Amino acid sequence: MNLLIMGPPGSGKGTQSKYICEKYNIIHVSTGDMFRTAVAEKTEVGLLAKGYLDSGEYVPDSVTVRMVEERLTKKDCQNGFLLDGFPRTLEQAECLQKILKSQGKKLDKVINVEADTELIIKRLSGRRVCPKCGSSYHLKTQPPKVENVCDRCGADLIIRPDDCQETVENRIKVYLNNSADLLKYYKNLDLIVTVNGGNPIGTIFKKICIGISENDNN
Ligand code: AP5
Ligand code: MG
Repeated sequence: MNLLIMGPPGSGKGTQSKYICEKYNIIHVSTGDMFRTAVAEKTEVGLLAKGYLDSGEYVPDSVTVRMVEERLTKKDCQNGFLLDGFPRTLEQAECLQKILKSQGKKLDKVINVEADTELIIKRLSGRRVCPKCGSSYHLKTQPPKVENVCDRCGADLIIRPDDCQETVENRIKVYLNNSADLLKYYKNLDLIVTVNGGNPIGTIFKKICIGISENDNN
């Protein structure tokens, strides 16, 4: 199973990804997480990406595509993957098709999580993340068992640097500028499963599973 999850910032892509990957036993490939790791490790890609992440702009397609292509050739992706936050531009989508074709693979479904601006701001202003294992929490809707401590690995939780108001506003703008073309592209391929990101986590997950199993050729 090769899947893709898209949606605006804070719509719940990362949250759903954890459940989907567990259920279908596939690898989570999040370009946002990969860039954050690269920034923390001060690699060449990280040094280049930092400014883009801080301002909420997209990292150039050439850099992003190369990073994903390398990741998808790794052995752990051979039994299936879930791309989270890639592609985000039409050019990235076209490159992905070529990469998959060259590897003899195809996408099975594209999960599109819808969320409006008001919801996104509510979600991101209360989000806390684990800098060690990447788990996501929310002060009101999904608090950790112990205040400010990650349930999974015990690390202290942080506010993601790009969750400040100004950057969130730009992330939404950048998403809206690019998503229509992307949605059209995947609608034409008849791959889209749309879910309402405003529903409870479990409800969204059930809808996603139903969408994945419909017309399932696997
Ligand atoms: P990325 O890390 O992908 O950020 P994003 O798209 O802005 O999305 P988020 O991770 O902020 O939100 P999410 O949808 O995962 O929501 P979450 O599950 O955490 O990308 C960051 C940056 O990297 C980009 O700005 C860009 O610079 C760069 N980049 C990445 N990919 C790129 C690409 N392909 N090309 C170029 N540049 C790229 O949930 C949010 C909050 O809501 C949490 O607190 C959670 O607990 C809560 N929550 C989730 N679901 C629910 C629910 N159903 N009910 C109640 N609360 C919920
Ligand atoms: Mg995420």
